[in-house]
Amino acid sequence: MKVPIIRISFSEEDKRFINVNVKISEVLDSGILTMGKYTREFEDLCCRFVGSRYAISTGNCTVAMEIIIRALGIEGRSIIVPTNTFMATAYAVMQSGNRVVFADSNRETLSLCPQDLRKRINGDTTAVILVHIGGIVSPQYYEIKKICEENGLHLIEDCAHAFGCGIDGKKAGTLGAAGAFSFFPTKVVTTAEGGMITTDNKDIYNKARMIRNHGKNPDMGNRMSEFGYNYRLSEITAVIGVQQIRKAAQIVDARMGIAKIYDRLLADNGYVRPLSIPSNTTSTYYKYVVFLPEDSDRSGIKMTMQEKYQISLTGEVYADLCHTEPVWQKYTYCGKLRNNGGKVDCARWPDCGCGDLQEGFPEAAYLSKHHICLPLYPGMTEEECAYVVDSLLRTVKDMASVSTSTEGS
Ligand SMILES: Cc1ncc(COP(=O)(O)O)c(C=O)c1O
Repeated sequence: MKVPIIRISFSEEDKRFINVNVKISEVLDSGILTMGKYTREFEDLCCRFVGSRYAISTGNCTVAMEIIIRALGIEGRSIIVPTNTFMATAYAVMQSGNRVVFADSNRETLSLCPQDLRKRINGDTTAVILVHIGGIVSPQYYEIKKICEENGLHLIEDCAHAFGCGIDGKKAGTLGAAGAFSFFPTKVVTTAEGGMITTDNKDIYNKARMIRNHGKNPDMGNRMSEFGYNYRLSEITAVIGVQQIRKAAQIVDARMGIAKIYDRLLADNGYVRPLSIPSNTTSTYYKYVVFLPEDSDRSGIKMTMQEKYQISLTGEVYADLCHTEPVWQKYTYCGKLRNNGGKVDCARWPDCGCGDLQEGFPEAAYLSKHHICLPLYPGMTEEECAYVVDSLLRTVKDMASVSTSTEGS
């Protein structure tokens, strides 16, 4: 049996679901190829699904986060993000003219560690980006929110992994000032490329809509009253978005069903431990995370799974932490080039410390080494799940016995 890393499928039924082909022809014939009725429908459906008052579609999630930061009026300040995230979270901070400050994670939630977050806050800090890593809303969300409130910080959500996730009945995308979603092909719902901002805040909504569209202000006859850019989504992409959101409940149910099968098959196995999802949270399992025994050779396990069993494991969340990326040899944390052979001439914020390499994230470092992610996507069969689990347990067991016998020799 061969289990691929992902199956992105738009079946004939999906295409017929809302007549994607017909609607794309209709868009092409109408001449309204951007910001038309399907864009509005996509945004309305997202509002309803997420439970937010407003939604603004964007070209992707990275720019959605940048727009949120700009709409909040933050510039030239420090924003805290976990080092255990995709670099896009940090890039959005830098692209908006701010300085990124990394924080450590909690190894059981994969997400920001509240104690470490407190330590990183100083007079320059203005916002925190909470990333729902792997599709898990941290049960420490309430503590993180309280820290933000106590320190007057904006809480922004990176919901790239968290479409349909939530805590105590509230969905990701409604837990802070605003949330940013990704519709990249590997995500829970996809439009090939695409993003969405959700918020209940009318001021953020109004500003974000202008920033997305070159700063054009509809109340001023489209004169440009904001510092904007082209961050729009095309109308053709929005047609796919409408189809995906209409089908979202089905996609989410399918993912949760597969996770349940894995949970059952992995229960009490004695070798690997699935990440436990707190009972007051809902995950749509962007990733199904499994912790390996402490001394495991992860790349060896992945190679055996691939070569012996034809099972492709998905990427970890994350194997390479942001603060370890080589980009910091060239750029400062405010997104300025390091000149003078690595020496920093940062005229923007004297003494901002943007030249000092950030380090010291032990929990994120632990996490980055000790987990794998199992394939999980709609359409996976129970038989495929059983094959993945059986192959994984055999691999871990075989490798453990080889290392014990070598130790003894
Ligand atoms: C946590 C996280 N944030 C942001 C992004 C960026 O999303 P996009 O590619 O839509 O800009 C990603 C993409 O994978 C991500 O994983």
